[in-house]
Amino acid sequence: MEIKSPVSATLSPEQLAAIQDAVSHYRAVKGGVMPALHTVQGICGNWLPLEALKLLAEGMDIPYPYLYGVMSFYTMFSPTPRGKYIIRLCESPPCHIMGAVNLAEMLQTELGIKVGETTADGLFTLEHTACLGVCEVSPAMQINEVVFGRLTPERVKNILSDYRAGKAVDYRTLPRTTNPLSDYLASGDELVLLANVDQIDPLSLDAYLERGGYDGLKKALSLTPEEVVNTVKDSGLRGRGGAGFPTGLKWSFTRPSPITPKYIVCNADEGEPGTIKDRYIMEGDPHRVLEGMAIAGYAVGASVGYIYCRGEYYLSMYRLNKAIEAATALNLLGDNIQGTDFSFKIQVQTGGGSYVCGEETALIESIQGERGNPRVKPPFPGQVGVWYKPTIVNNVESLSNVPAILVNGPDWYKSKGTEDTKGTKILQVVGQVKRPGVVEANLGMPLRELIDKYGGGVRDGRTFKACQPGGASVGFILDEHLDTPIEHAALAKIQGGLGSGTMLVMDDTVCVIDVVKCLLYFFQHESCGFCLPCRRGTRVLYEMICKVAAGTGTQADLDRMLTLAQTMVDSANCALGWSPYSFLKTTMERFKDEYDAHLAGNCPLGVCKAEEHSH
Ligand SMILES: Cc1cc2nc3c(=O)[nH]c(=O)nc-3n(C[C@H](O)[C@H](O)[C@H](O)COP(=O)(O)O)c2cc1C
Ligand code: SF4
Ligand code: FES
Repeated sequence: MEIKSPVSATLSPEQLAAIQDAVSHYRAVKGGVMPALHTVQGICGNWLPLEALKLLAEGMDIPYPYLYGVMSFYTMFSPTPRGKYIIRLCESPPCHIMGAVNLAEMLQTELGIKVGETTADGLFTLEHTACLGVCEVSPAMQINEVVFGRLTPERVKNILSDYRAGKAVDYRTLPRTTNPLSDYLASGDELVLLANVDQIDPLSLDAYLERGGYDGLKKALSLTPEEVVNTVKDSGLRGRGGAGFPTGLKWSFTRPSPITPKYIVCNADEGEPGTIKDRYIMEGDPHRVLEGMAIAGYAVGASVGYIYCRGEYYLSMYRLNKAIEAATALNLLGDNIQGTDFSFKIQVQTGGGSYVCGEETALIESIQGERGNPRVKPPFPGQVGVWYKPTIVNNVESLSNVPAILVNGPDWYKSKGTEDTKGTKILQVVGQVKRPGVVEANLGMPLRELIDKYGGGVRDGRTFKACQPGGASVGFILDEHLDTPIEHAALAKIQGGLGSGTMLVMDDTVCVIDVVKCLLYFFQHESCGFCLPCRRGTRVLYEMICKVAAGTGTQADLDRMLTLAQTMVDSANCALGWSPYSFLKTTMERFKDEYDAHLAGNCPLGVCKAEEHSH
């Protein structure tokens, strides 16, 4: 993490007045620090001058060093000047293997600046970023609020010339992102989560109601809260955020707590490279998320919900906020919903560009306006969460399953999927396949079917090399593993994982050591720095893989890396620090020849360059 000294600027009277307005608004809002930073940054033109930070600190009654500490945690905030348009080029593994490195070089040449710099005319700042959540169109970049995918040098040149000519895109007018796969339904009998996506206007509450929307909430309100918890418990739904914890069981721990208020937090941080599923629901069917949250609120006795959405998902947040307005107007949210005693309000909270804030306790800290350091657990959020009160944190997709479970009953839900993992799931197939995208499938479908039938198989003329199922923290698997059913238990047996349900497919042009290097760069960049094993361990692992990639590593280095990664599993405070072990172990075992070739000074594919650090 870079320590940037805030730069001074003369603020105009209009800017000063707008900052004062923002301060007086947000000082009265619980958790107002993050939205205040976003708003003031917008007022000042994409950055936070020293004077603005001081005004904010003073106005919100926060010591300036404390505010600096919060601001500097999040990559989306900058205390140094930036251009009118911030180009954020994704460098995470799915974009990396799809050619992001060449685009970075091309963009630097085209703009005449290096990454981190601003063009002399003040128009563009070029930044690197971790996964933008649009990996179905990798390689991708974001310019302010708008995402551009399937980038080629030609396309990048055209986009830049449009922006230079003043033709910036308004993100609010964008169509819903088009799924490159022809159909959302894969080997299932019906769509549950994606049933409305692409089928209805996401901004129309009427359209949602016509398709049975909010019937799940109405059903819930006719039951006791305990019956609702039991319905979700009986359905067998397991959390879709990665760990697969049973959702109803989680609710059952919090429901009896006499401590109030309680909170529902919808985890919409979606920062796991390769993961794009929650965005499809939020952009395409935002009411489903709100309905799931309201049912959760009724079940556990919460009256406030937060949706913590990653800062890059402007379109999702826009549509969620519109949906909240519409649902409140019809008393589907708000006070005494549908004439009952149940009141429930939802607020969207914006992240600031930090992967670790997807970890539930880091996310809670961020909602509270703090640096996103994960808390030491226990206590778990169910007992001590937002504002130190009982809090349910559930993933977008987990909550989006709930309305259909209430309407159709738990038996209907558990008839889908496998014994181990019930229901349907949004699966993502990204990387070097013909048709990257999302499908909803009954769990249990073999991986090979997802990759070959829905993803179209690897690109023309290439052969399959490896797949990293589940996300960046999971092991690499081989062709011989592809008949494994997609579910938690079976994938864990082959040292893979279901995780968020994303499958990164790599063909024979990929150097495994280069991808591991890219993964380790990601983890050392995203480590929050709170605990030593992870803060130092991720950095040392990255430096060592750079040495291996450069052809100067030894077998002793590889052994040390595995020992260090194992120590991190045993001693790091949160799962981010546990992540490198699986992909290091599986790649060292399953791609031993490739490691050996690098130890002998040779990258068989000529991908790894001689320099030790490329970042
Ligand atoms: C580093 C890290 C990042 C995470 N990112 C996310 C995320 O983006 N979305 C998510 O739902 N869960 C994420 N999780 C998991 C959450 O901590 C938590 O388990 C989840 O939100 C619980 O919801 P569920 O039970 O519905 O799955 C992350 C965990 C870690 C350790
Ligand atoms: S393991 Fe890493 S990300 Fe998690 S608390 Fe420790 S330093 Fe932070
Ligand atoms: S958008 Fe680049 S890796 Fe996801």
